[in-house]
Amino acid sequence: MTRLNIVVGITGGIAAYKAVGVVRALVLAGHDVHVVPTEGALRFVGRPTLEAISRNPVHTELYEGVAEVRHVAIGQAADLIVIAPATANSIAKLAAGLADDLLGNTVLASLAPVVIAPAMHTEMWQHPATQANIATLRSRGVTIVGPAVGQLTGADSGPGRMEEPDEIVRAALRRAATGHEPIAASAVPGDLADRHVVVTAGGTREPLDPVRFLGNRSSGKQGIAIAEAARARGARVTLIAANLEVAEPEGCDIRSVSTALELQQAVTDAARGADVVVMAAAVADYRPANVSEAKIKKDQSDDGLTLELVRNPDILAGLGHAPHDGTVLVGFAAETEADDERLLALGRAKREAKGADLLVVNRVGWNEGFASDENHVVVIGPDGSVVTRAHGTKLSVAHDILDVVVSVTTTAARAATTTKESDPA
Ligand code: C5P
Repeated sequence: MTRLNIVVGITGGIAAYKAVGVVRALVLAGHDVHVVPTEGALRFVGRPTLEAISRNPVHTELYEGVAEVRHVAIGQAADLIVIAPATANSIAKLAAGLADDLLGNTVLASLAPVVIAPAMHTEMWQHPATQANIATLRSRGVTIVGPAVGQLTGADSGPGRMEEPDEIVRAALRRAATGHEPIAASAVPGDLADRHVVVTAGGTREPLDPVRFLGNRSSGKQGIAIAEAARARGARVTLIAANLEVAEPEGCDIRSVSTALELQQAVTDAARGADVVVMAAAVADYRPANVSEAKIKKDQSDDGLTLELVRNPDILAGLGHAPHDGTVLVGFAAETEADDERLLALGRAKREAKGADLLVVNRVGWNEGFASDENHVVVIGPDGSVVTRAHGTKLSVAHDILDVVVSVTTTAARAATTTKESDPA
């Protein structure tokens, strides 16, 4: 393994305490870690802690170490820069290229890949200013990890929580391994260039108690293949990742969720203004009515255990029945039905019931569908007819599905132009 020189920038948010976990994991993985906290970060976590964990001196002052030109030396020597947490303020400063502290100078003086883990309240994350800054950073090749959806500092919960340290470390090392070239979505030509594609992948988990959950066998492979294919065709991709069993794709904005309600919140947030939403995740239809705070014990008697379940919202139907002009909605139906005609009939009924534009039907069973690298699907179109049948690797099936998506968006755009042209006003 190559020993990397890694700068960990820490900015002033409550999640700064979790950055210690990021530093620790990178040091334990054998890397040389230099922590550059902002003044704000030092209000949340002390310099001695950071020095002890990183095993290196910690600097913050721009005007310290002038003789060794420290304000550029740290950045020039870095192989990778990880900023966790990245507050809304620090993201704005990075987007503007400000250099009023050591961290800002370090980033500007460096050619190394930059990975940031945003952490802030939901309103701040969703603010158009923050979203515009994130888009700017992404177009410069900065990798954005998270934020996750979950409990925030106060009583509120939603997107904005810093991704878990292990996940940040994994994403950062993967980014370092892919080299220094910026991944600029707009630089990739393709028929989905400048489109925002949201993909859900994986399977939700509904907790019963602190150690158990109700889940499903979805690995996330087909959803990830769709995200990768969309990315390769030039789209900006948001991947809502539910308990994936395989590695996340490069170059996507990844939001990690676990339960159906978390997935609903993340999709609703990401789908606003999106061009395409592909609901490939297997979402639990029910969740336990009560989640036990303690591990559920075996009863003394031999009686079974009865679980009370309540319905989860149907997320796709929620999106499908709300106005969604300009957004192509793609649903999935994984069915165990053996008969082809009946399988198609189920798919048609599902597309209609959920208000999806396209519905991808595939057969699943004990040995079919889930963990496999191949898939066999039928895509049902807006008028209920079969628009395509695809068979092959999950990546080739993903491209076949996107071919249909592109033709639907092109037809819709053409229809809109024709209506405008023939409008007597
Ligand atoms: O009804 P069924 O679970 O078969 O529908 C599958 C499709 O609906 C998938 O696209 C899945 O992502 C979506 N779904 C949903 N919310 C649920 C259940 C499924 O959005 N509660």
